[in-house]
Amino acid sequence: MKILVTGTAGFIGSHLAHRLLDRGDEVIGVDNVNDYYDVNLKEARLERLTSKAGFTEVRQDVADRAAMEALFAEHKPERVVHLAAQAGVRYSIENPHAYVDANLVGFINILEGCRHNDVKHLVYASSSSVYGANETMPFSVHDNVDHPLSLYAASKKANELMAHTYSHLYNLPTTGLRFFTVYGPWGRPDMALFIFTKKILAGEAIDVFNHGHHRRDFTYIDDIVEGVIRTLDHVAEPNDAWSGATPDPGTSKAPYRLYNIGSNNPVELSRFIEIIEERVGKKAEKNLLPLQPGDVPATYANVDDLIDDVGYKPATPVEEGIARFVDWYRDFYKE
Ligand SMILES: NC(=O)c1ccc[n+]([C@@H]2O[C@H](COP(=O)([O-])OP(=O)(O)OC[C@H]3O[C@@H](n4cnc5c(N)ncnc54)[C@H](O)[C@@H]3O)[C@@H](O)[C@H]2O)c1
Repeated sequence: MKILVTGTAGFIGSHLAHRLLDRGDEVIGVDNVNDYYDVNLKEARLERLTSKAGFTEVRQDVADRAAMEALFAEHKPERVVHLAAQAGVRYSIENPHAYVDANLVGFINILEGCRHNDVKHLVYASSSSVYGANETMPFSVHDNVDHPLSLYAASKKANELMAHTYSHLYNLPTTGLRFFTVYGPWGRPDMALFIFTKKILAGEAIDVFNHGHHRRDFTYIDDIVEGVIRTLDHVAEPNDAWSGATPDPGTSKAPYRLYNIGSNNPVELSRFIEIIEERVGKKAEKNLLPLQPGDVPATYANVDDLIDDVGYKPATPVEEGIARFVDWYRDFYKE
């Protein structure tokens, strides 16, 4: 299949592109390689991809309407996995406009491209952060999510709403994936595992927010990729039992679906740090700090729909995933 993947210089996009290429798909990879974090890491991820047969790199901004129209017209992808976005909860307080440009303008360009080029399935990244102020655990796609706590979360919820209108109006099958704290080799430098590993190795103190009491459904990258591929292959269908009298938020009369992809096994941040310390072989010096604005204290995914529809549930133990990350980090940064 010819698949357009956006965000291929990114953490999840680069891993996904490898898996698709390995199974024989053709991948058109779009990324603007922006400098939100270390561009060398993005270039290194891309370098491993461009050496593989079937990969076409397109360096452009998904918010560039004319460039995106031209890209869809030229390549005519059969399916699209849209992962390019301005990620990060904390940075959305510093630079809110980046989220509107990449996540909202970028998303409408993807939807329009799919609509006008007969794309058979759009899979896009949403986030566990859409659960915002919800407290009923585990979080379910059938719960209402109208109380985001950051503009990042609001932009992801907006993507789900925008996707629904295109599924309804143009019969475009769309699947939104709410990823839960993804970690693993080639991971993001703005995320906890990377920052902690780097600082512990350097003998520097780490900032531990919410005094280490956060609980996160840390999900290993290979488990995320498996979930993306399985849902990509399972084209969203209308739910005939859906009723406007009792509207289920996770499905629709239109070909629209949402799934959580999370480990379904929350781990406290303090335990997560202990596992890193064990693998690095050094104790961390910790600055215990309060909860940060925009952060949610706990995430925990209900993955029943993923199990029911595509027969899959993430399974990598956090000890194994952290060990693989630390080994990759030491090798990549020669530490
Ligand atoms: N990593 C996680 O824990 C996590 C959790 C929930 C949701 N997500 C979502 O999953 C997706 C992938 O996340 P990731 O962790 O791989 O992040 P990432 O930042 O590593 O990857 C995103 C990529 O998109 C590119 N990009 C950003 N804006 C762009 C634009 N306007 N035009 C073209 N390219 C652009 C970036 O250069 C980057 O390479 C994102 O949509 C993110 O919001 C990630």
